[in-house]
Amino acid sequence: MTTASKRTEIGRGAEAIIYSTNKGILKIRPVKTYRIPEIDVSLRKHRTKLEATMIQKSRPMSPEILKTDFKKHEILMEEIKGPLVKEVLDSKPEIAEQIGKIIAELHDKNIIHGDLTTSNMIIDVSKKEKPVRMIDFGLSFVSSKVEDKAVDLHLFRQAIESKHARIFEKAWNHFLQGYKPANKKAVFERFKAVESRGRHKKK
Ligand SMILES: Nc1ncnc2c1ncn2[C@@H]1O[C@H](COP(=O)(O)OP(=O)(O)O)[C@@H](O)[C@H]1O
Ligand SMILES: [Mg+2]
Repeated sequence: MTTASKRTEIGRGAEAIIYSTNKGILKIRPVKTYRIPEIDVSLRKHRTKLEATMIQKSRPMSPEILKTDFKKHEILMEEIKGPLVKEVLDSKPEIAEQIGKIIAELHDKNIIHGDLTTSNMIIDVSKKEKPVRMIDFGLSFVSSKVEDKAVDLHLFRQAIESKHARIFEKAWNHFLQGYKPANKKAVFERFKAVESRGRHKKK
């Protein structure tokens, strides 16, 4: 697909390699040699398709999909220009309100992100309104279940508690202003139950 364009590796996670190209961001799921080859091929194809579908469903909070090649396990997407939320949250905890709005919008569409960390959110510098955009839908799924939305919130809270401990309380309060738990009473009640479940487990 992009053999003609230059690619520069910008990231490598457990599942995928991310390249910057002159056409956009290329996410490729490479071979995992520890898997049985047939299973590996179908698993990577399945996950790549699933991620592309979920990114598409999450527009415009997610990047535009420019091209997919499931045989090559590749997704070419719009490059969102701007810093990761991870890089700016400590100095600007108020942007968590924007994150709250975006996650509420995703949950209203029954989209569960599944990996809500501040490395999977980018502040789009080209946008004045709703600048926070989500990436990395590799663990996402569709669900209307209160439990799934509550767990999504729980994971996000844990992520900021561990990576942004100093401003955690502030950021969480801003997040709640954006997410508006009063509009999502059932989810929020379940969230509190999930949180206390987590606390009991830790003991
Ligand atoms: N569409 C995009 N625009 C800009 N940067 C991106 C984009 N997609 C990924 N990145 C960058 O690559 C990193 C890893 O991408 P991600 O999809 O989160 O893969 P992983 O599954 O390895 O975490 C991100 O944290 C971000 O820095
Ligand atoms: Mg990621």
